[in-house]
Amino acid sequence: MLFKRVKPLDQILATAEKKSLVRQLGPFQLTMLGIGAIIGTGIFVLTAEAGQKAGPGMMISFIIAAVVCGLAALAYAELASMVPVAGSAYTYTYGVMGEGLAWVVGWALVLEYTIAASTVCVGWAGYFNGLLASRGFGLPTFLRVGPLDGGGFNLFACLIGLVITWLLVVGTSKSAKVNAVLVLVKVIALTVFIVIALPRVQDANFQPFTPNGWGSPMGGIGVLGAAASIFFAYVGFDAISTAAEETKNPNRNIPIGLLGALGVCTVYYLLVSYGAIGAVGAQPVVAPDGSAIQPGTPAMAAACQASQALVCSKEALAHAVRLLDHPWWGNFIGAAASLALPSVILTMTYGQTRIFFTMARDGLLPAKLAKIHPRYHTPHVITLITGGFVSLFGALFPVGALADVTNSGTLFAFMMVALGVLILRVKQPHRPRSFRTPAAWVVCPLAIFGCVLLFLNLSKVTMFVFFGWAAVGLVVYYLYGYRKSHLANGTEPA
Ligand code: ALA
Repeated sequence: MLFKRVKPLDQILATAEKKSLVRQLGPFQLTMLGIGAIIGTGIFVLTAEAGQKAGPGMMISFIIAAVVCGLAALAYAELASMVPVAGSAYTYTYGVMGEGLAWVVGWALVLEYTIAASTVCVGWAGYFNGLLASRGFGLPTFLRVGPLDGGGFNLFACLIGLVITWLLVVGTSKSAKVNAVLVLVKVIALTVFIVIALPRVQDANFQPFTPNGWGSPMGGIGVLGAAASIFFAYVGFDAISTAAEETKNPNRNIPIGLLGALGVCTVYYLLVSYGAIGAVGAQPVVAPDGSAIQPGTPAMAAACQASQALVCSKEALAHAVRLLDHPWWGNFIGAAASLALPSVILTMTYGQTRIFFTMARDGLLPAKLAKIHPRYHTPHVITLITGGFVSLFGALFPVGALADVTNSGTLFAFMMVALGVLILRVKQPHRPRSFRTPAAWVVCPLAIFGCVLLFLNLSKVTMFVFFGWAAVGLVVYYLYGYRKSHLANGTEPA
C-alpha cells in the first residue's frame, strides 16, 4: 500500500508550474543559502561534544561525516536538477517510491529542519549568554538552559526563534540579503580562529588520538559516535534543493550551489578542528573511575565543574581562543557567532515551511496551511506554526540531544534520496538529467551504507525518538493524508 500511489514526475513539475513561487535565486545566492545553512552550531558548539566522544580522533569523525554528506550531495544534485520543485527529498520520494514513503520522508524532514533550527537556537543562546556573562549581565541558570541541562527555560533560545519567525513572515528576499551578510561574518570568525590557532598547534595534544576507540552500535561514543553527532555540522546543504522552485536555471545552479557550499564548509571544518585540537587539546573528561562519559549527562556536568577543558565549553571556539590568551578575539568570535548563527535558524525554518507548503499543496496537510499572505507573499500560517515549535523545543531541550535527533531524520532522508536516484535510473533511464551523479552505482550504495553506519552509531534514546516520531507520522497519514491526497482523489488544485 505504501508503494502504490506514485506521483508521475511530469505531474509534479506541472503542479509546480501552476502554483509556483517566484524564481529569483542565482548560483551565488544559492551557495550563500547553503553556507548559511551549513556553518553553525555544529562547528561553533558541537566541536566540544565531538571532542568528548572521540578526543582528537574527532578529526576523522569530521572527515567521515563529510564523505557521507558529499556522497549524498551528489545524489541530491541529480534529483534536484531533474525535479526542481520545492519539497526536497519528500518530493523526490513521491515521484519515485510513492505517497506513503514520501509522507514518511516528509515527516522525517520535520526532524531535520525544525529540530535543527531548535538546535541552533540553543547553540546561539550558549554564545549569547557567554557574551552577556563576560559583560557582567549573566542570566540565572534557570533562564539560561533547559530543564534537562539543570535549568528551566532557555529564554534566549526561545526569543531568537521568535525573531527569525517574524523575519520569515515578512519576506524571503529581505531575509536572503540579511543571510548573505551573516554568512560573511561566520566565515570571518572561523578564519580568525584558524589564524590564531594553527601557529599554536602542538603534536602532544594529539596523544592519545582515539581515547574512546571507534565506538559501537547504539553506543553514541567513539570516533563513529562523534561522526554521527558532528554530521550535524554539515546538515543543511540540502536546504538549497528545497529552494529549487525559486531558482533561476535550476538545472545548472542547484548542483553548483550544493557541491560548492559543501566543499567550502568541509575545508573550514578540517582546519578549525585541527587548530582546536592542536592548540588547546580536546581530550574527553572522564568519570572518577576513569571510564568514558556521554556528553549532556549529569555525570558530564559533574566532571566539568570548574574545568576549563574545551569539551566542557558551551561556546567552544570563543573559549579556545580565550585560552590562547586572546580574550578580545575570543569575544569577537562570540559576537560573530551571536550575530551569524541566526542565519542558520532562518534557513532551516525556511526549508521546513517550504516542505510543509509542498505537502499541503499535495493535499497531505490541510490547504489552509499553504495560504499565502496577501501583503508579504509568504506562507505565513505554516511559518508561524513552525516557528512556534522551533522556539519551544529550543527553550526546553539540550543542544546535543536535539542535534542527534536532527541527524536521525536527515540520515533517513539522505538514504531515501540515494535510493531514489538508483530506482529512477532503472525506471526512467531516458528522462533528461542535466546533472548525473558520477558512478551512481558506486556512489549511491556507498551513500546509503554511510547513512546507515552513522544512524547505527546514534544513541538508543535518539533512535527511540526517531522511530516513535515515524510511528506517529504513519497514524497521521492514515487518518488524514491517505484520504485527502489530491493524487488519490484526482483533486489536483487548478
Ligand atoms: N549545519 C548546521 C549547523 O551546524 C545545521 O548549525
